[in-house]
Amino acid sequence: MKEEIGAKNYLSPLPVTLVGANVGGKPNYIAIAFVGAVDYSHVSISSARNHYTNAGIRENGTFSVNIPGTDLVKETDYCGMVSGKDTDKSAVFETFYGELKTAPMIAECPVNLECRVVQTLEMKIHEVFIGEIVKTYCNEEVLENGGVDFAKVDPILFVIYGKDYWSFGRPFARGWNVGKELMR
Ligand SMILES: Cc1cc2nc3c(=O)[nH]c(=O)nc-3n(C[C@H](O)[C@H](O)[C@H](O)COP(=O)(O)O)c2cc1C
Repeated sequence: MKEEIGAKNYLSPLPVTLVGANVGGKPNYIAIAFVGAVDYSHVSISSARNHYTNAGIRENGTFSVNIPGTDLVKETDYCGMVSGKDTDKSAVFETFYGELKTAPMIAECPVNLECRVVQTLEMKIHEVFIGEIVKTYCNEEVLENGGVDFAKVDPILFVIYGKDYWSFGRPFARGWNVGKELMR
């Protein structure tokens, strides 16, 4: 039996990311869980229009998506509670810049996506920024055979409508492979 629970977006769990933008020439970081992989070279982030971050993304047409490990949960939560409107968050992390020069990235996060805005979608409360990934940066210690080992990244996961932060599980089957048993 199914129970209907309303029209809720239960696309969960999602990774909690830290999105970086320069606002008035200074780095600002915001926790964003409404994040999506559009395709192999584009991401979407959905940020409420009145957030301080949005002004910077509009100003420069650039942003970064940084993937924190569970060791950064306090800093991540802080960036999700405090606004750059009232508090300078530029020194919470060590910032570095890449090719675009205006998308601040977080040295402490093992994976960083440097993005250029290619489209903006205006929703009722949120702005959805579609970013083309211009460069991806990665800490050496999480690389395995040229790819990212997410067990080493240890990302923070979040369930929409929930409050808990979750940690990543373990691989249990191989994609494009385990279903072969059902091919006849
Ligand atoms: C775990 C977590 C996830 C969040 N995800 C989003 C999100 O996807 N979109 C959004 O607009 N706000 C989200 N927020 C709220 C913003 O991070 C928060 O309002 C922040 O203080 C805004 O910062 P700013 O004003 O400096 O841009 C989230 C907060 C937390 C704690």
